[in-house]
Amino acid sequence: MSDRTCATRRQILLSGGLAATVPLLASTRSAPSVVRRPDVAGAPPPEQVHVQFGADAATQIAVSWAAPARVARPRLRVGPRGEAFGREVPARERVYTDAMTGETVYTYHAALDHLHPDTLFGYEVIHDGAGPVAGTFRTGPRGRGKGFRFTSFGDQSVPAPVGIGLGPNTPNAGYIVDAVDDLDPLFHLMNGDLCYANVSDAPVATWTSFFTNNMRSARYRPWMPAAGNHENEVANGPQGYLAYQTRFELPGNGSAEFHGNWYAFTVGTIRVLSINNDDVCLQDGGFSAYRRDHVPGYQANGDDPYIRGYSHGLQRAWLEAELAAARRAGDIDWIVVCMHQVAMSSAHFNGADLGIRQELMPLFDVYGVDLVVAGHEHHFERTFPVRGVLPGSSLLTPAPQGSDPDEIDTRDGTVHMIIGGGGHSAPTPVAGFDTPHDGVLITGIGSGSPQSQRPAITTTEPAPWSAYRDLATPYGFASFDVAPAEHGGTTSITVTHYGAAAGSPVYAPLDRFVMRKPVGAARRLRTRQLVTG
Ligand SMILES: [Fe+2]
Ligand SMILES: [Fe+2]
Repeated sequence: MSDRTCATRRQILLSGGLAATVPLLASTRSAPSVVRRPDVAGAPPPEQVHVQFGADAATQIAVSWAAPARVARPRLRVGPRGEAFGREVPARERVYTDAMTGETVYTYHAALDHLHPDTLFGYEVIHDGAGPVAGTFRTGPRGRGKGFRFTSFGDQSVPAPVGIGLGPNTPNAGYIVDAVDDLDPLFHLMNGDLCYANVSDAPVATWTSFFTNNMRSARYRPWMPAAGNHENEVANGPQGYLAYQTRFELPGNGSAEFHGNWYAFTVGTIRVLSINNDDVCLQDGGFSAYRRDHVPGYQANGDDPYIRGYSHGLQRAWLEAELAAARRAGDIDWIVVCMHQVAMSSAHFNGADLGIRQELMPLFDVYGVDLVVAGHEHHFERTFPVRGVLPGSSLLTPAPQGSDPDEIDTRDGTVHMIIGGGGHSAPTPVAGFDTPHDGVLITGIGSGSPQSQRPAITTTEPAPWSAYRDLATPYGFASFDVAPAEHGGTTSITVTHYGAAAGSPVYAPLDRFVMRKPVGAARRLRTRQLVTG
């Protein structure tokens, strides 16, 4: 689907949709003056336009874009769709320079607050010397009054080779954008390994390709990211995440240094927590031989892509506080965690990571996380609700708390989903799935250094937690239809996995299940005895 088609479809959908009585936005601010005014003649147009929710999706949105050169008076014009732009907001410039190529990237971010819930807005981003680029976004609903849909996948890459073609790329990385957009989700979750810029000879061009590819959806609905191991571009900031942090405008987490690495937002009755598992994983997932060989001063500067423990517990403390607050909140029925590496996998690809079980799973159990969406393993797989560990398990193998794969009450435990078929050119091969159907777990790493990737030490385990896996379909995503208040006093999320063959733009529904529980039950976990090993 082309941009033009998208816009036309939306205009049709929206015609006559918005009430003219929707109050205009809070205040009208004029654009700031700039001290150093770049030459505006022939300024590059806004590109890579995308939107993101703030911490409160009902009232907060940020619009972001990029330019290959510094621009003058970057700003956002916005108003309820169908009305004049009633508000002009200056955009903040954030810049980074890639440590390997020396290229500088200019990004612009305009944050909006005090928006009206469940309202469609139109906007333009513009700077001096170039024409505007238009988009729309819808704010989230408030409370339990209205259902909505979101979607998710990880491990996308880009739709065509970039540079000399070192990085993964497939046509499916493009097709999946249209497949997601056709479902008209309110927002989309990207479960890490966005574009694999860290293994490319042309990382900046790879990011450009990624955002350009996704823009035909992401400028109309938030594509909210989690940082994966391939967002770690060593030497771009202390943990390699500087490009990621610069390019997205994400809700704050109280830390300037780690801004965007973990964050949370609320949509209706759902609290979404996006976290960065490189902080806890044993696996050495950020290593890039190409950056080792081509980042100037790599060895002399002591650059090291192995960053386990980098937040020194800050992320974990934030996560626990956020989970506790969500569990206390009377208007949150569902807690969803978006992360990259996985707690369970039945494939000899990367495998699951014991570090996640040690650091995060106890929190998921205590605070009753309902759903975890992840990637890293390049296939689709999901679990029964899990809580606690199998008796005596030194591997902390999660214990299933249900046996119905189709209808799940998440008061019993957390459902984990691997949705890693976003487009990477190396999907989990059929031969990679463990036979018999066991789990695969990284339990440690061998010796290594910043010069050579530390090898993972893996083992297998029983997998009674495994509810469903798809060995045949390399690419796919999941949709989540949220019904916040059903007849009979329940709330549900209906999950559908859509899959496609390699090279095919047709994404068909292949798996469906429902998570359901009483409204307001989020704070009353079942008092089932936790099984601990
Ligand atoms: Fe990946
Ligand atoms: Fe990964």
